[in-house]
Amino acid sequence: MKAAVEVVSVAYEGASITGVIVYREEPSDTSKWEICSIGVLIPRQDEGIGTSLKEAALAEIVVRKGTWDVISTVNKRNAPMLAINRKLGAEMRDDPDDSKHILTLIKAVPHDPGDVTPSK
Ligand SMILES: CC(C)(COP(=O)(O)OP(=O)(O)OC[C@H]1O[C@@H](n2cnc3c(N)ncnc32)[C@H](O)[C@@H]1OP(=O)(O)O)[C@@H](O)C(=O)NCCC(=O)NCCS
Repeated sequence: MKAAVEVVSVAYEGASITGVIVYREEPSDTSKWEICSIGVLIPRQDEGIGTSLKEAALAEIVVRKGTWDVISTVNKRNAPMLAINRKLGAEMRDDPDDSKHILTLIKAVPHDPGDVTPSK
């Protein structure tokens, strides 16, 4: 059986890593990718790094797969992560197997080139 693809992306500043995101093909359903883990250094939180990491993961998944479903599980008390998912247009619903968690689904879509200001 072919191993599922797993990707790690980091945010860094100078020689220091400030955040990391891990995402992979969902092993039980390869029509989806899953965000497994995301974290930003405590002193660097709330500066947009987590949002950038998730956006970068969505963009990478689009490069690999085209338009694709991306899922994650978030604790209901994790306000920053829920805010990021809301901002990125996630559908969210209660996890039927775990009342403490929310299941999120974002459709990763190719960027509209019309949104980009061409460089000179
Ligand atoms: C979750 C995490 C990755 C977010 O990273 P981050 O770099 O702080 O996130 P950002 O700065 O990009 O965005 C945070 C958003 O949450 C919002 N936010 C922060 N605290 C909040 C609160 N208490 N209530 C509501 N919204 C809140 C911010 O306003 C921001 O939204 P905005 O950009 O619309 O203003 C980071 O907090 C972290 O590493 N937490 C510990 C690990 C973790 O929980 N990982 C996720 C497991 S699912």
